[in-house]
Amino acid sequence: MPIRHLPDHLVNQIAAGEVVERPAAAVKELVENSIDAGATRIEVDLSDGGKDLMIVRDNGCGMGREDLIASLDRHATSKLPDDDLWAIHYLGFRGEALPSIASVSRLKISTRVRGSDAFEIEVVDGVKSSVRPSSQMEGTSVEVRDLFYSTPARLKFLKTSATEYAAVKEMLQRLAMVNPLVAFRLTHNGFVSFHYPVLTDDAFAQTEARMRDIMGADFIGNSLILDAERGGVRLTGRIARPTHNVGTAVKQFLFVNGRAVRDKQLLGAVRAGFMDVLAKDRYPVVALFLDVPAEQVDVNVHPAKAEVRFQDAALIRGLIVSGIRHALHAQDVKPVTSLTDHLMKRMESPVQNSFSPRAYLTPYSSPSPSYSGVLAEHVYNAYAPQSSMEFAPSARFDAPLEEEVVSHPLGSARAQIHENYIIAQTETGMVIVDQHAAHERLTYERFKSQVAENGIESQAFLTPEIVSMDDTDCARLLEQSELFSKSGLEIEAFGAGAVAVRAVPALLAGRVSLPELLQSLADDLRDHDKATGLEEKLNEVLSTMACHGSVRSGRRLTVPEMNALLRDMEQTPMSGQCNHGRPTFVALSLADIEKLFGRT
Ligand SMILES: Nc1ncnc2c1ncn2[C@@H]1O[C@H](COP(=O)(O)OP(=O)(O)O)[C@@H](O)[C@H]1O
Ligand SMILES: [Mg+2]
Repeated sequence: MPIRHLPDHLVNQIAAGEVVERPAAAVKELVENSIDAGATRIEVDLSDGGKDLMIVRDNGCGMGREDLIASLDRHATSKLPDDDLWAIHYLGFRGEALPSIASVSRLKISTRVRGSDAFEIEVVDGVKSSVRPSSQMEGTSVEVRDLFYSTPARLKFLKTSATEYAAVKEMLQRLAMVNPLVAFRLTHNGFVSFHYPVLTDDAFAQTEARMRDIMGADFIGNSLILDAERGGVRLTGRIARPTHNVGTAVKQFLFVNGRAVRDKQLLGAVRAGFMDVLAKDRYPVVALFLDVPAEQVDVNVHPAKAEVRFQDAALIRGLIVSGIRHALHAQDVKPVTSLTDHLMKRMESPVQNSFSPRAYLTPYSSPSPSYSGVLAEHVYNAYAPQSSMEFAPSARFDAPLEEEVVSHPLGSARAQIHENYIIAQTETGMVIVDQHAAHERLTYERFKSQVAENGIESQAFLTPEIVSMDDTDCARLLEQSELFSKSGLEIEAFGAGAVAVRAVPALLAGRVSLPELLQSLADDLRDHDKATGLEEKLNEVLSTMACHGSVRSGRRLTVPEMNALLRDMEQTPMSGQCNHGRPTFVALSLADIEKLFGRT
């Protein structure tokens, strides 16, 4: 069969498969065009998740008559004036979005340059209409109807309206986060989904305001600020405290030079930063912005530009990992306010299980002088049968308030209940500490610093263990053998398809299966160019050991022991959460407590 050049319309449809595979991708392209056009206000209207209609309206620079016609041609762009792919200053540059979208939908563009006439053009079945006068205000408005009507095979892949709408919303939020000085509004089927205004021209304040709009005030109140620099690359943003973790990866907002990306390597680096403060199935909440000199990053590796390639990937990874670690270490011992709120709601709502503090306390609302004594007796008697609410002999309600320690963030211990929860009085309220979780974390941090100081002890085998593996995996591992030996793992070549293991980190000896360990390290190297697996395994063992070596719940502590634990927590980095991201303590302010009793 003879070779022929494909007609433009078909070429565009082929490209559309990559560039606009669903409404969210089309909206992304159109909104990025609006941002590139210098818009300060962008409105998106969808109907039926965008499958039926998407309109993107902006107040940007608009297009003149000739540009409007050219904008629909393949590889026609105003954004690469110097033909330099290493100096990309716009979100777009490939000149494919408009012709691609036009090839698989019914498209209409109306536009006006300030001080000129307005024009509009339509494309149906790949055929441009003539340019007509329009009533468009300054800026541009693009309407996309019946996406994929001409390519039924693709149409079949679209999900329900609700799912497509959710994808558009999530994508727009990413763009809105990194363009805080642009106001965004989204409507779906006539209802306003969100409206993010611009309240100030102070870039930092507006960035914070936008983050609050998108992530919630909760995030701002429970997150740590990052600001780090290395080799000309700057990393800024916020990470939620680990206790604020979630069950999905969608709350990880990553940006490179103003571009929203979903890059596996970057997500991996974030994961590594949170390595030992989150359970495997939990995800951190982050909004991180990387500023990389334009010539050190290639954004032209992915048609939808969701991935990027860095000249020095190790530097970027290191910056993210250490930036996050640093912020986590530096965090003060601060209670999780979102949890407190949650707790308050639980306590305030009519409780289904037997304990109803409000109902119970009503008779005592005008306390007699012996109030606390009576109450304590009463609580004790009422609940002793089911739940044995006991106090250690030295830890009663009247445990002395230690004046000099109450000013510490975690206060002065007053009581231990259910043999695991320490109640301490602080200057502004009270905290409840989960003694087991807290102690486990402290022990773990101690193990880690011991390992950091004394290095990792390695234990040699009498005769090397031979592990057979795939050739390429062997090669990958052996390339890194020097690095592994620093962590106590000694490996050598052993002919084709096998490695010999001479020694393992003493901490791992007898605790892991060697073939499994080596395979996971090799997989890691293949996927991430870097084996975090070993460090993670070591940390896992440390954390299991910490768990076994910790004060079990159920052990009574004396007041000095409790106070010692509180002081230890204040001094130990990252002691606010256990190894799985659960909090080790919660706090109630006096104001909260008063609210519970209806005193406000
Ligand atoms: N909303 C808009 N406002 C002004 N000009 C636009 C707008 N959308 C598209 N254009 C013009 O159309 C051209 C083609 O757009 P597109 O196909 O998305 O390619 P690219 O963005 O890669 O240049 C752009 O380079 C720009 O000049
Ligand atoms: Mg574009």
